[in-house]
Amino acid sequence: MEDILILGIESSCDETAAAVVKNGREVLSNVINSQIDIHKQYGGVVPEIASRCHIEAVNTVVDEALEQAGVTFNDIDAIAVTYGPGLVGALLVGVSTAKALAYALKKPLVHVHHIKGHICANYVAHPGLKPPFTCLVASGGHSHIVYAEDFMKYEIMGMTRDDAAGEAFDKIARVIGLGYPGGPKIDKLAKEGNPNAVEFPRVKMANDSLDFSFSGVKTAVINYVHKLDQKGEEYNKADIAASFQNAVTDALCSHTIEAAKRKNSKTIVLAGGVASNSALRAKMSEQAGKQGIDVLYPPPVLCTDNAVMIASAGYFEYISGTRADMKLNAVPSLTLS
Ligand code: KG4
Ligand code: ZN
Repeated sequence: MEDILILGIESSCDETAAAVVKNGREVLSNVINSQIDIHKQYGGVVPEIASRCHIEAVNTVVDEALEQAGVTFNDIDAIAVTYGPGLVGALLVGVSTAKALAYALKKPLVHVHHIKGHICANYVAHPGLKPPFTCLVASGGHSHIVYAEDFMKYEIMGMTRDDAAGEAFDKIARVIGLGYPGGPKIDKLAKEGNPNAVEFPRVKMANDSLDFSFSGVKTAVINYVHKLDQKGEEYNKADIAASFQNAVTDALCSHTIEAAKRKNSKTIVLAGGVASNSALRAKMSEQAGKQGIDVLYPPPVLCTDNAVMIASAGYFEYISGTRADMKLNAVPSLTLS
């Protein structure tokens, strides 16, 4: 079979990224222009600034992706782009760029769902991985448990009813003064703290639901910190970070393992920015291991937003015949079906 090279483009949030991937699994290049240093002055992503930064960066990022891969536009079989979910102005930059390239080069255009992209990062990290498996996708915008029945068929088994896990990490980091993005900072600080110092709530859903809710734990941490602040008492940030992380990862692990058990699934796959959390990786591996379930996750650079995952997902879409035309638009609240 001929090799298939996909150019992936991702711009749904604050990373302008382009990558070339061979046959959905092999990374030829991975270029990421992060805007974190700009947004951190504001404590979070400012959508209008994100769109402008994407426009400035996108052409250079695409050129670099081709150069690093040692290929030209001629060698590319199709262009894959994230069309949702995400920030509308940010998505539009990637979508417009991909449409312009596809039109000018007369190459097929493939539209990719951002969450499916996160899942596909695992096909790159684990070349032997094949569905079926149970996947936890936890990022700044999403917390889903997804059963991947095959490369194209996904079933949502649970999702957050309020905040995404990463959003809760970012909020708590801000409250205890760690800055943006909070996930990696809490992860690091928590290593010096006691995860059982404070018992923050774990929400149990009724009717065997596998859904998550993180607003309760978030509010509990905020109230805890404010009460101590008002009394002028010191608190141990590392203990709070560790205890908060313990509560969130307990929920993520127990629901995902329960989902895997219901599907008799022997593999759990982690995806999304929160999948780089060291406590989550360790806890999931330990708890699932006791049930005879393997746990896989990508390296951190493929957990947070990147275009390798979009090129990989684009490959599986491409070989199944998915094509977009020049009417393709950004869909900010695209759901997973
Ligand atoms: O997947 P991603 O880059 O963007 C979205 O699609 O949302 O995820 C970013 C999120 C942020 O909320 C960030 O704080 C969180 O992932 N994150 C982490 C860690 N690294 C990134 N959360 C916990 N622990 C980490 N090590
Ligand atoms: Zn993402």
